Amino acid sequence: MSASVVATRPFEDQKPGTSGLRKKVKVFQQANYLENFVQAVFDSIGDFAGQTLVLGGDGRFYNRQAIQIILKMAAANGFGRVLVGQGGILSTPAASHIIRKHKAFGGLILSASHNPAGPDEDFGIKYNIGNGGPAPEGVTDAIFARTKDIGEYRILAADDISLDDIGETQLGDMRVEVVDAVADYADLMRSLFDFDAIRALLAGGFTMAFDAMHAVTGPYATAILEDDLGAPKGTVMNGVSKEDFGGGHPDPNLTYAHELVDVMYGKTSRPAPDFGAASDGDGDRNMVLGNGFFVTPSDSLAIIAANADCAPGYQGGIAGIARSMPTSAAADRVAEAMGLECFETPTGWKFFGNLMDAGKVTLCGEESFGTGSSHVREKDGLWAVLFWLNILAVRKDSVANIVTEHWRKFGRNYYSRHDYEGVDSAAAGQVLQTVRDQFTTLPGQRLAGRLVSACDDFSYADPVDGSVSSNQGVRVLFEDGSRIIFRLSGTGTSGATIRLYLESYEADVCKHDMDAQDALAEMITAANEISKLQALSGRDRPTVIT
Ligand code: G1P
Ligand code: ZN
Repeated sequence: MSASVVATRPFEDQKPGTSGLRKKVKVFQQANYLENFVQAVFDSIGDFAGQTLVLGGDGRFYNRQAIQIILKMAAANGFGRVLVGQGGILSTPAASHIIRKHKAFGGLILSASHNPAGPDEDFGIKYNIGNGGPAPEGVTDAIFARTKDIGEYRILAADDISLDDIGETQLGDMRVEVVDAVADYADLMRSLFDFDAIRALLAGGFTMAFDAMHAVTGPYATAILEDDLGAPKGTVMNGVSKEDFGGGHPDPNLTYAHELVDVMYGKTSRPAPDFGAASDGDGDRNMVLGNGFFVTPSDSLAIIAANADCAPGYQGGIAGIARSMPTSAAADRVAEAMGLECFETPTGWKFFGNLMDAGKVTLCGEESFGTGSSHVREKDGLWAVLFWLNILAVRKDSVANIVTEHWRKFGRNYYSRHDYEGVDSAAAGQVLQTVRDQFTTLPGQRLAGRLVSACDDFSYADPVDGSVSSNQGVRVLFEDGSRIIFRLSGTGTSGATIRLYLESYEADVCKHDMDAQDALAEMITAANEISKLQALSGRDRPTVIT
């Protein structure tokens, strides 16, 4: 087996977004496209000679082919060992855990998260560093710079190796270890949560449903919820992972996880279960529901924080809490009550890594159905599901009661996100600019019956390494804590997606039972007025409301 050096020319569009490089499969299938990006990663991450790389993906179309290419490139570039999930599969949180547990140099995770999969859909790749977390911006900037002047890549001339059986294979001077994709992760979950209590809950008539959406969590959820915790067979819906995710859009929200939503709202032949949850393509997102009751991700973070002592792994106390800027301030109120520090970061899990490494935070969350803790350096869908099950097992109360009691104690942060997908990029830019143009005139005005106190482009200075990230969202802040935020998505693969985030705080218990869209109606109208969103985008309603 010999390593060859292949001449190549740069692609101009390999800038990693919020979570790695995401493109249509057809783009990745162009000659040298994947190879260029992988070589750019290897050229940008320092000296890994003889070290370990973790490799796996969410099993979507092109996963297997990409893994074979990357293995041969890792061997030719001098890695000593690659740990690859069986069948090429690793959920994103499991990959993060394996990087940490085996002290790997880093990992390559193949996923486009919740984006649809298949020959005409999306693929993605991202590099995670040795702490198990997404590469910080300094690294992704270096990778992007390298993609622009790359002239060659190294790859081993070798046959494909089998990924289906656990065991070791030699690839040139590098060892490939095919590892059980679930085992290490399941062990970690057992170390954090009271599995006996959850087992007793499930044995006592408590019912649940988990929708794996034909994506990566199928085998993880089946092993943990059904085989270990004893939930009845069939608890895991759509548990067979498929290369095209069954033609679905595995994003666990009220729109795309409608099959689970119908079950939880009693719209199918079975009685609505006590608890329902779903995860996304690569297993890092989660949605949590009670019987006929939706828990917003922002509330979920706050409630997990307030009840952290239910779970053995967190009984020693938690450090601080971090949330992304657009996430509601519900967690801030819990942090304040618990005397904990609370951090507000830009969108994207990579901003939590430094805070966790420095021991400043234990729990983190994003409004985009992401919740997690310092047990790994990614958000973790099944972890959130198990945390809720642990809380339910200890509190012996319904999801709805736990949430409404939380609101009674802390007040309710009404919250919603309106997404306008596939908008013309120039028009999307104009929407944000229209608001920016009013930064000096809006403060002091009343909008939606509230006083605007400030407007800005959110900027974050990392308290650990001092790095500054600017232009992270256009904010209109109100005196009473309400907020209107506009942001452009950094994960889309066609056109632009405008995200409009709306939040208003309600302390009065008598006003806690409104529908969020009703409670936020005036804010929604005001947001459209100041941004001319609908006129500029040519849309009369959002694509997705969560
Ligand atoms: C979206 C979410 C963000 C999340 C990211 C990766 O990014 O909004 O919170 O971290 O996906 O899952 P966006 O498309 O908004 O850039
Ligand atoms: Zn994901």
